Amino acid sequence: MSQRTLVLLKPDAVRRGLVGELLGRIERKAGWTISALELRTLDRPTLEQHYAEHVGRPFYEPLVEFMSSGPSVALVVEGERVIEGVRALAGPTDPIAAAPGSIRGDFGTITRENLIHASDSEQSAEREIKIFFPGLA
Ligand code: CMP
Repeated sequence: MSQRTLVLLKPDAVRRGLVGELLGRIERKAGWTISALELRTLDRPTLEQHYAEHVGRPFYEPLVEFMSSGPSVALVVEGERVIEGVRALAGPTDPIAAAPGSIRGDFGTITRENLIHASDSEQSAEREIKIFFPGLA
């Protein structure tokens, strides 16, 4: 089943020079393609929309601060079961709990600075793609 997902390589990944490494892991999955890609410093209104479900949680303000602290890479990836697949490549939210071999397991230590975001369902993907790439058909 071909799907689309919204991926963010977060400011920590860009600052640490991991964009090539992380994009490479996505590109090497057979048949997946990148259909949009942009380096952009995310502003507060965009982040408020993106993280609407987390408003009011204790980690929300520091999360928005961090996510606007430098450029991120936003991309849309398309392909077979890509929603589940990119989340498997990323590993669970807490990078210490994430298995070695996953992006967070290999490169992360701090839950907030966990390198990558990937949509968690078809519904989220559709919503998030509209936020970051409103012109994409
Ligand atoms: P992500 O799953 O992309 O979307 C929500 C983000 O909030 C998550 O990645 C982390 O960056 C951050 N986050 C979630 N839970 C916590 C937490 N308990 N403490 C700090 N940051 C968190």
